Amino acid sequence: MNDKDILELKNMIDINNIPNHVAVIMDGNGRWAKKRSLPRTVGHQEGMKRVVEIVEVAKKLNIKYLSLYAFSTENWKRPKEEIDGIMKILVYYIRNELEKIHKNNIKIQIMGNINRLPKTPREEVLKAVEKTKDNTDMVLNIGLNYGGKDDIIRGVKNILKDIKMGKINEEDIDVELFSNYLYTKNMPDPDLLIRPSGELRLSNFMLYQMAYTEFWFSDIFWPDFKEEHFYKAIIDYQKRNRRFGGI
Ligand code: IPE
Ligand code: IPE
Ligand code: MG
Repeated sequence: MNDKDILELKNMIDINNIPNHVAVIMDGNGRWAKKRSLPRTVGHQEGMKRVVEIVEVAKKLNIKYLSLYAFSTENWKRPKEEIDGIMKILVYYIRNELEKIHKNNIKIQIMGNINRLPKTPREEVLKAVEKTKDNTDMVLNIGLNYGGKDDIIRGVKNILKDIKMGKINEEDIDVELFSNYLYTKNMPDPDLLIRPSGELRLSNFMLYQMAYTEFWFSDIFWPDFKEEHFYKAIIDYQKRNRRFGGI
């Protein structure tokens, strides 16, 4: 697509109906690399470049919450070299981008148990969260060792703890209270989920939070995902009739 076509697409977006929270399952890095006879890690590197771009595009569109699935609780099943590669790329990304993210008033949040990450990525992640904690323009919420089932179970355990300590009563538990025990506390549910790579599934991403999320799937691999695809997803989203169970 040339610049003129991209601009035309961008102009089709209704700025009064921008999704507040967009979630992305960044999938297809490995197949993108395989198609080019490159190591899978090169696919992850290329995918990281798309992260940099998409964060900027989302910020410019005034999206308030952007959730990115970077590493799942099931991704530990992969070969050690690939996991090490992903962790290295994560560290590289934070070291290179943190200053810019901070200047752009973006707050980095993590969902997932980062205690299982190796020391360097864990420390870099904590540094990024601490540095950006008071930023207010956009929340960049990154799923790292994240699983939707794990999110829910962790929430249940913390609720039980608080009941035992007398902080809350069993009768207090409702949808709103439960939401505050998830990694996404203080965040609205995603309005739009984007999943490239051709897979039509959630792969354990934000199971509780996606009860009424609009899904947008595409066959392209994440390293090929550009600004124009993001615009297309939003334009499609704006055509949806969201009923939330009503009429
Ligand atoms: C997504 O790309 C990145 C992570 C899961 C870390 P994949 O690595 O899953 O790429 P495919 O699905 O094998 O092509
Ligand atoms: C989902 O992709 C996880 C991330 C993008 C981080 P996967 O590649 O792990 O999902 P499956 O295995 O195809 O369902
Ligand atoms: Mg995959």
